[in-house]
Amino acid sequence: MDKNTIDSNKRDSVRKNYDLIAEQYGEDFGTYIEDLDIYEEFEKHLLDNAKILDLGAGTGRTYSYFNAKGYQYIGLDFSKEMKNIAYIIHGEFPYIIDDMVNAKRHFTNDSLDAVFAVYSLFHLPNDNIKKLFSDVYDILKINGIFLFTYQIGQGEEMADEPYLKEKGKNVLYMSYQSNEDIKNLLNQFYFEEIFRKEKVETSDMAINTNEITTAFVLAKKIK
Ligand SMILES: C[S@@+](CC[C@H](N)C(=O)[O-])C[C@H]1O[C@@H](n2cnc3c(N)ncnc32)[C@H](O)[C@@H]1O
Repeated sequence: MDKNTIDSNKRDSVRKNYDLIAEQYGEDFGTYIEDLDIYEEFEKHLLDNAKILDLGAGTGRTYSYFNAKGYQYIGLDFSKEMKNIAYIIHGEFPYIIDDMVNAKRHFTNDSLDAVFAVYSLFHLPNDNIKKLFSDVYDILKINGIFLFTYQIGQGEEMADEPYLKEKGKNVLYMSYQSNEDIKNLLNQFYFEEIFRKEKVETSDMAINTNEITTAFVLAKKIK
């Protein structure tokens, strides 16, 4: 099997798993907002009415937050069930069903003020992350901002996932990046890091049961 097919199969397994756990995810996270300091940092760099694309929008908790502040929010996620639950919780709003590796198909270059990808890139194989950075660079306007998270580490694994365990399927594909990997990617695509925070995930609501540190990075497209 070639590498593209292997990576596509990994992403496909993630999509099927989120379809399975969407209802439970919506119950626990549908309107739950944490890390407000990071959202506030993000907003400092947004103009009124900014157009924000949320990659891996899930059950829409960030929609309700950003919509209430008057931003133009567009969700994108490949799980139809996550979208269904998002609409049940929040009502209808712009939401594209697609794999985020295809995000560029939906937007022209230099058309977005911000891209937001919180707790979602960790389901992308490493080569896809590199391509995603390139695509986000293309669709953002100059001075546009990119807020994303990654799990600090190396390699990839099928991690234990408590919600899936309840469904008799207890593993979910996860990838990890070192701070150096991310720094290199930012440099390669002319992003300047403007804010960063690391958070040890202690909550029993964390997406996998291993002890992990999430890094939040806010970066600006500088040329
Ligand atoms: C842990 S949830 C986070 C959802 C939301 N960002 C939040 O913070 O509540 C991860 C989401 O990313 C989506 N996702 C993962 N890989 C994706 C991909 N390749 N393309 C589109 N969506 C993806 C999943 O379907 C899921 O809804």
